[in-house]
Amino acid sequence: MNDKVKDKVRERYGKIALTGNSDCCCMPGECGTGNSPMDATKMIGYDTTELDAIPQASILGVGCGSPTRFTCLQKGEIVVDLGSGAGIDAFLSANKVTSSGMVIGIDMTDEMLEKARKNARENGYANVEFRKGDIEKNIPVEDDSVDAVISNCVINLTTNKLDTFRQIHRILKPGGRMIVSDLVTDREVSAQDADAEQWCNCIDGALTKDSYIESIRNAGFHNVDILDERTYMDGDKTGNRKITSLTIKAVKEQK
Ligand SMILES: C[S@@+](CC[C@H](N)C(=O)[O-])C[C@H]1O[C@@H](n2cnc3c(N)ncnc32)[C@H](O)[C@@H]1O
Repeated sequence: MNDKVKDKVRERYGKIALTGNSDCCCMPGECGTGNSPMDATKMIGYDTTELDAIPQASILGVGCGSPTRFTCLQKGEIVVDLGSGAGIDAFLSANKVTSSGMVIGIDMTDEMLEKARKNARENGYANVEFRKGDIEKNIPVEDDSVDAVISNCVINLTTNKLDTFRQIHRILKPGGRMIVSDLVTDREVSAQDADAEQWCNCIDGALTKDSYIESIRNAGFHNVDILDERTYMDGDKTGNRKITSLTIKAVKEQK
């Protein structure tokens, strides 16, 4: 299942990167509503003025929260964005940490990386770099080296959430923070019942809120706080499961 799911995820997001059509993919509301990527992005809490200041081609409407709103980034900080897609949160972060800081976006889908790098190049972002990696296996970033890790609607797509949170814990500096937006469900699907398509739709890979938080704690994080919580999908498309969007902050203990 793991490899099959990963291949499907790469295929799905590769297509979205090439076509810009994200209809039906982890978006709020029903599939086929025709919400533009910008409308879908505003609906999940992004600041319109901040969105106007980043490359418009980085806005695909495939997030489920707005982690950068809660990250309180300072000039000079080093930030990693996991599952960076076309770069929306990486560019928002880069504008906040300015040229004395640095943002590293990580993605496993070649087409997304290409799109994100093109966005950076064409818009003169010298403080952003996009690296290829599988975030649950090995985030290509040194141990204890970053101030903040952010992620938007990605960890639900991984097949081992605990390993992903362990990787995040490894790369954060002591005292560093993780702020992730993600989807959780009121009823998990077992590995053998999971459907690869529904996994790509951010539904079948979702954990319950309790097991999500437990995985964060088991990875070694402290001070786990829910910063935002909103109903995301409720209905047929989810097999009657309720899908909730959470934004969670957790901190790596100081040594
Ligand atoms: C729903 S999209 C979100 C993209 C971006 N965060 C945004 O809000 O626009 C999920 C992204 O995560 C990437 N992804 C999924 N699983 C991954 C993994 N295990 N390692 C690295 N990237 C992954 C996909 O390629 C895709 O670009």
